[in-house]
Amino acid sequence: MITARRPMIAGNWKMNLSHLEAIALVQKVAFSLDATQLQRVEVVVLPPFVSLRSVQALIVGDQLLIGYGAQDLSPHTDGAYTGDISGAMLAGLGCQYVLVGHSERREHHHESDAAINAKLGAALDNAITPILCVGEGLPVRSEGRHVEYCLTQLDGALAGLAADRLAELVLAYEPVWAIGTGEVATPEDAQEMCSALRERLRETHGAALAGGMRILYGGSVKASNTEGIVAQPDVDGALVGGASLDADEFARICRLAAAPSS
Ligand code: 13P
Repeated sequence: MITARRPMIAGNWKMNLSHLEAIALVQKVAFSLDATQLQRVEVVVLPPFVSLRSVQALIVGDQLLIGYGAQDLSPHTDGAYTGDISGAMLAGLGCQYVLVGHSERREHHHESDAAINAKLGAALDNAITPILCVGEGLPVRSEGRHVEYCLTQLDGALAGLAADRLAELVLAYEPVWAIGTGEVATPEDAQEMCSALRERLRETHGAALAGGMRILYGGSVKASNTEGIVAQPDVDGALVGGASLDADEFARICRLAAAPSS
């Protein structure tokens, strides 16, 4: 299938790097890629909250062709929520993207599909594009229930959200057993799930939304395994964890995703 979907490579830095290291990393990535590559592939960094201001100043000040966003947001607009960060605060720092429903948030912060649904609403209310993560753990995959499991996560997250609000949404399939383990899903595994997610979106939100939506794969992505993954027809890029902390490696991944054949 020929699509006009622009691939995305997003770097989820998780809880890593000081704000000074953040600036150095973004600078190096930006200067490792040329304008054509940065047009072909959308490169996004997702630093910790405390580095967003520094990353914004660098990207805006030097007009770098790199997007940025946050790793989480509160479902609430404001008020007595100690330690939380609202969508309006992120929008105020120019964030274009925010991760929602990452498996580490689901696990360590017990985020339910309902909570994730509320966070999606909060992001959309502030004109921030959510990158919604779904993915199964090893027991679910061993039982062969992975597709059904991720489709249920998708349905729960998108409940009540109409297609006209979701036009920019980005999905990410991140099998938990492949995150930070060095165990990458095969390109066929990634394609199976991304195609099933797209098909479910077609059923629930229509062909136009499903056909235009970017669906990323995440889980131990490195330059050495990028090509096979991004060559899959329903995989539109990658959500990269550990390898996004190394500017050379991350730039290599971006170049591979920008290659005309991908
Ligand atoms: P790794 O690339 O380190 O496996 O992390 C993937 C991930 O969780 C990105 O959100």
